[in-house]
Amino acid sequence: MVRKLQILALLLVVGVITALWLFWPNAMSQDEALASLPDDYVADPIKGETLFYTAGCGSCHMNNQASGDKPAGLVGGKGLETPFGTFYPGNITPDVATGIGGWSETDFLNALQRGLRPDGLPYYPAFPYTAYAKASAQDLLHIKAYLDEQEPLAYKAPQHELVFPANIRLGVGAFKRLFVDFAAFQPDPQQSQDWNRGAYLVQALGHCGFCHTPRTPWQTEDQSRAFAGAPALKAGEKAAKNLLGVKPGTIVDSLSPDAVDLFAVVSEKSSMAHVSRAYDHVSDADKQAIETYILSFSR
Ligand code: HEC
Ligand code: HEC
Repeated sequence: MVRKLQILALLLVVGVITALWLFWPNAMSQDEALASLPDDYVADPIKGETLFYTAGCGSCHMNNQASGDKPAGLVGGKGLETPFGTFYPGNITPDVATGIGGWSETDFLNALQRGLRPDGLPYYPAFPYTAYAKASAQDLLHIKAYLDEQEPLAYKAPQHELVFPANIRLGVGAFKRLFVDFAAFQPDPQQSQDWNRGAYLVQALGHCGFCHTPRTPWQTEDQSRAFAGAPALKAGEKAAKNLLGVKPGTIVDSLSPDAVDLFAVVSEKSSMAHVSRAYDHVSDADKQAIETYILSFSR
């Protein structure tokens, strides 16, 4: 009897430790979050604007047309359909009550680099923090400075409509612990500066693999088939094309509104149209670096 109780107690302890390990939020303190910033760092909204477009924040958070109580702007609320249900990205204007107006730099970095809400609960990876975790604090705080300059708009996005068990937010904590790599971007010293710039832009900001890399059964990106194309999240939408072996110039050309409006190689209604339009704000050198990096996977 005593022995059985001992085993039970042991199992309980192991269970509690495992649960803590799986679900503990691991938020960064202010010192940790801001440790990598140079002493003379000043967040710059102009740099932030370019980075905002490189990272495609507007694709999911921008509402182009006012309707009812929903103003036009970065108020979210546009349904993002996935096999798990529909997500409604939130309001990222500086409105204090419904947006992110009251957020500190640390809150912002915990959201983008750790996938954590200010109250410590996890965000769903439909918000691509799996990529943004690799971005530098400097770049992300430039984006925050740009967002802080937007007009505060009051609007609360609807609740997500998710199927069981995806609707249990706490469960996302275990997914993150098991499957998400929160390490900062590491340049590869064997590769050129251009390649490394492209790698950073693609992995940390552009999240091209979010759509173009097929997923494992665990819904993580299958890196052994990076950029090999993947079905759209929403039934009936265009699949994201295989980028391996495309002709030089194809990737640079696709990152421009002309790809949609003039040449129609990207269809108006595909999710890529947001990307093509956003990249109007990105320099040719950065687009070329993105192409150099992605094409290096073609063998
Ligand atoms: C693919 C779509 C997508 C992209 C791209 C995206 N987000 Fe989001 N974002 C979401 C979703 C979905 C949520 C809600 C997640 C949740 O509730 O767990 C969210 C939540 C957020 C939140 C938390 C809002 C709150 O009220 O708690 C912030 C802040 C945010 N995103 C900022 C950004 C920034 C900055 C970028 C660009 C660097 C960005 N997002 C790009 C989909 C996206
Ligand atoms: C939100 C999902 C999504 C993201 C993020 C995304 N793409 Fe796409 N991409 C697509 C889809 C869907 C298509 C197919 C478009 C079509 O057929 O109309 C596509 C098509 C393309 C094409 C083919 C264009 C042509 O000429 O046929 C290229 C090249 C491309 N994407 C590159 C990129 C790069 C580079 C990035 C990152 C900066 C990226 N994509 C990010 C979804 C995405």
